[in-house]
Amino acid sequence: MLDNIVNILLILLGVVLTKLLFISIFFYSDIRAAQKRDPAAKSFMEVILLYPGLHALVYYRIAHALYAVHLFFLARFISQAGRFFTGIEIHPGAKIGKRFFIDHGLGVVVGETAIVGDDVLLYQGTTLGGTGIIKGKRHPTLGNNVVVGAGAKVLGNITIGDNSYIGANAVVIKDVPPNSTVVGVPGRVTKQDGKKMDVALDHVHTLDPIKQSIDELEERIKNLEKK
Ligand SMILES: CC(C)(COP(=O)(O)OP(=O)(O)OC[C@H]1O[C@@H](n2cnc3c(N)ncnc32)[C@H](O)[C@@H]1OP(=O)(O)O)[C@@H](O)C(=O)NCCC(=O)NCCS
Repeated sequence: MLDNIVNILLILLGVVLTKLLFISIFFYSDIRAAQKRDPAAKSFMEVILLYPGLHALVYYRIAHALYAVHLFFLARFISQAGRFFTGIEIHPGAKIGKRFFIDHGLGVVVGETAIVGDDVLLYQGTTLGGTGIIKGKRHPTLGNNVVVGAGAKVLGNITIGDNSYIGANAVVIKDVPPNSTVVGVPGRVTKQDGKKMDVALDHVHTLDPIKQSIDELEERIKNLEKK
């Protein structure tokens, strides 16, 4: 009886160690990316064992491989198992580049036709989503080295240029040029190529209508006060 229990424990230990070895080898660059981008990550082993963003990526890579050979049900099943254990839902059809990192993770959704470049960082609560029920490419394309802040929504078949930063809770529904910072609802570019944008001169991006009304009211109050 005791022998059987010891044998079972040894088998379980073997499975866990094999899994750890598999993840350390095949996800080495993703683990290093997590360590680089999260100052709270203390060790390689901590990332492997305790980072839901990495676990979600492991589920996704397996699901995506199955999706690529048209095993759609199995792919979706693995993706949903990943969602159950991590709180992160990445559709197996999405295309994700190298050194992808999801920090904290909970509530992240990546849609079926989303394309994500290399070195992208998503924070918790971000959505790379569609805007309707049309078929075909309906989710965003993120360039390389893009960061999407906590709770931000990037919606529709739009492109976010390389090295751009989407601020926390922004809702982005239009293309974003490379090297930009976008904040607000709807998202507007506040910085480009390291320079602050003069929002009043920005004719390309729609301004937040509520902010515009408040600005106008403030202006009128100032004028009245002067009088
Ligand atoms: C957008 C962000 C990258 C700041 O970029 P930045 O270029 O350094 O911007 P600044 O701090 O100079 O702010 C520029 C303007 O945008 C405003 N702003 C900054 N972040 C904003 C946000 N998320 N939503 C709305 N407005 C924001 C600032 O108040 C400032 O407004 P002002 O020019 O009227 O004073 C940052 O604020 C952000 O949202 N990061 C997300 C981080 C995150 O999600 N962390 C999660 C950790 S768990």
